[in-house]
Amino acid sequence: MEKLNCIMYQVIHFAAECYPIAKTGGLGDVVGALPKYLIKRGLHTAVFLPWYDQKWNHNNPVKHEWHGNLTGANYNVNYEIIKSENNNLGFDVFFVHIPDLLYRPNIYGYSDDPLRFLFFQHAALDFINTWDDKPGVFHCHDHHTGLIPFMIRHCYKFYGLQHIKTVFTIHNGLYTGAFSWSLSKYLPDFHERNMGFLDWSDTINPLATGVKCCDYMTTVSEGYLDELKFGENPLQRLYNETWMKSRGIVNGIDTDVWNPATDPYLENKMTKDIHEFKKANKLQICEASGFDPYLPLVVFIGRLVSEKGGLLIPDTIKRYLSFGQNVNFYILGSGVNYIEDQLKECVYQFPKNSSVYIGYNEALAHQLYAAADFLLMPSLIEPCGLNQLYAMRYGTIPVVRRVGGLKDTVKDFGEWEGYGICFNNASIDDIVMSLYRGELLHKEVEKFKWIREYIIQLNYSWDVAVEKYIEIYKK
Ligand code: GLC
Repeated sequence: MEKLNCIMYQVIHFAAECYPIAKTGGLGDVVGALPKYLIKRGLHTAVFLPWYDQKWNHNNPVKHEWHGNLTGANYNVNYEIIKSENNNLGFDVFFVHIPDLLYRPNIYGYSDDPLRFLFFQHAALDFINTWDDKPGVFHCHDHHTGLIPFMIRHCYKFYGLQHIKTVFTIHNGLYTGAFSWSLSKYLPDFHERNMGFLDWSDTINPLATGVKCCDYMTTVSEGYLDELKFGENPLQRLYNETWMKSRGIVNGIDTDVWNPATDPYLENKMTKDIHEFKKANKLQICEASGFDPYLPLVVFIGRLVSEKGGLLIPDTIKRYLSFGQNVNFYILGSGVNYIEDQLKECVYQFPKNSSVYIGYNEALAHQLYAAADFLLMPSLIEPCGLNQLYAMRYGTIPVVRRVGGLKDTVKDFGEWEGYGICFNNASIDDIVMSLYRGELLHKEVEKFKWIREYIIQLNYSWDVAVEKYIEIYKK
């Protein structure tokens, strides 16, 4: 095979999402930020992504890098490698272009997703196999890239990549990507004695495979790692068996993108006077929504799904506002139709105190973080959660359920050195009570201001978290 001389990369990230190219949630934010911070620390890093039919891909200069072909007894797939051309992102991105499989308007949600990500991984490795200088570490994110540690250890054609160390990060263990063994014919050839690495409960389970075959496994918080090991979930036994090579590392945030002093989405940027900054942004949102700006503003930003506590939100709003209209709610997100409809119903019932934007809107999200007094996160599961970190950087007090990464990053203001509002149960009673504590805190003006000043200066930048990944890479 023709060899390609490529720049020497020390760390390669593989993922399905990367902000600002393709994002549905926190995974995209992490993959769009961590490489930048690794580069800042002197590690040459690149990202591999599928080439989707999305806006970024149409508006940015890219170049053709390689053309390859994957063949086996049951498949013959042509792929192209496209590379980002400008340096706006702060790191190199290699895209795997397989028109029939990957070039689609959405990232996920197709019945052939297992095959799409299988061939994405296969093609990415096939291309790297041609490099003269092989990378030192492959860092794979979530189940979409969980087969890579298996492929390089056990597939004959990737013998030349066998020495590369792999880190596998679980951002959300709820999704395992499991698919039928009947699709195993599309994997590159491997010895059948290694089938066990792929199997979990008689299916091929890429999440389990990633955990079994990687050299090091991380979750995006320590709290979440404990929940995977001790809470009920289908892979619990596996997480316990692999504890020696696992660690929880709380995500950082990209403080260039999330900087209230320079944020291009904000008309009123942060100056020395934090309270003026909050006031001006709040006024803007309140004017647009017809809210009384003297009342506390509570926002929810995220996917409207059960996992994030979405099912609890409409009833919380109704219950709270039926007692007295002393708080305003603004909900931004999309997800389950039932929840969306219920929220619209809330706005119909309480137009002066509630507002909802159904959809994804990055600009509005930034504006809401800047405007809000409180951010509500009643998650049932939260491996890390980035929104509470964004909120704090913009002076918004998080109201969170004590779960996963929320437990690791928010301390109740009733505790020693606390600064947020925390509750234990995913119940409307607990949420309403917590919001009420928030309403009372809002009235204690000096204390409220002090907490605001305190959370804004907390350091949740990737500068801190990146050191922990570097420690692992060095191992
Ligand atoms: C997933 C998790 C979220 C985490 C993010 C980034 O979206 O649900 O908790 O913050 O990944 O790791």
